[in-house]
Amino acid sequence: MTSPVETFQLAVEAAEAYESKFVPAMFGEWAAYLVDAAGIAPGQTVLDVACGTGVVARAAAARVGERGKVVGVDLNPAMLAVAQRHRPDIEWRQADAAALPFADGSFDAVLCQAALMFFPDVAQALRELARVVSPRGRVAVQVWGRLESQPGYGPLVAVAARHAGPDAVSLLSAYWALGNLDALLPVFESTGLEVTATHTRLGTARFDSIDELVRTEVESTPLRERISDETYARILEDAREKLATFQTATGRAEVPIEGHLITALRK
Ligand SMILES: C[S@@+](CC[C@H](N)C(=O)[O-])C[C@H]1O[C@@H](n2cnc3c(N)ncnc32)[C@H](O)[C@@H]1O
Repeated sequence: MTSPVETFQLAVEAAEAYESKFVPAMFGEWAAYLVDAAGIAPGQTVLDVACGTGVVARAAAARVGERGKVVGVDLNPAMLAVAQRHRPDIEWRQADAAALPFADGSFDAVLCQAALMFFPDVAQALRELARVVSPRGRVAVQVWGRLESQPGYGPLVAVAARHAGPDAVSLLSAYWALGNLDALLPVFESTGLEVTATHTRLGTARFDSIDELVRTEVESTPLRERISDETYARILEDAREKLATFQTATGRAEVPIEGHLITALRK
């Protein structure tokens, strides 16, 4: 049996892998877009909700400078341990997005990247984002587009479904769950936020190879444990063919990925 210390250590290793693989592969690029969308400026106080290992908080800290202040909150202490190791000068707090430990109107800007789709109660989290931002402050949220709009991830999930069955779609689809803005924006409006702008853009997810892309996606979900080695090998082989158009001359994978940036003010 693993002790609580060993369990925490395994979680820290997973968080380190998130920071070294996923952040450069896709999240780093969007952190810059998100702080731009929020208009983060020198001297501001900024909250990064569900900060993970802190890529958005770090981008915000570069903008607010020494006169400003950035706080990152996340539910997962292992993510926060990695965030702290990289930037001990930023304040990191463990908290649930549904119950933020801050007074009303505490921040000039509140950011949240690639996380809203994981909250069990999206409206409650948005109410909290709206509560802790100052009256003229800005909330900026990034979510990925719908699976149907993803030029590379759509075919990848189709390959997985072909070999592993329809369950693979739900296991690989958490990321895309809030990609329909027609459904999402009314939730913002119902929680005390007035949406002022949305930008939909394509970024690029970058991996060493198509195999590395497939492994990163499949092995970061419970799908890998549910399929045999033979099925996994068939998924890899089929993905090499179906995603060949995203392979560069040097064998790397560069896959376009659609995301939305939503900015809002407190009503
Ligand atoms: C895909 S990661 C994104 C992390 C970071 N925003 C980034 O861009 O790299 C999703 C994060 O949401 C956090 N999370 C999930 N549910 C949460 C909740 N209810 N409250 C706070 N954080 C939560 C997870 O621990 C994880 O760090």
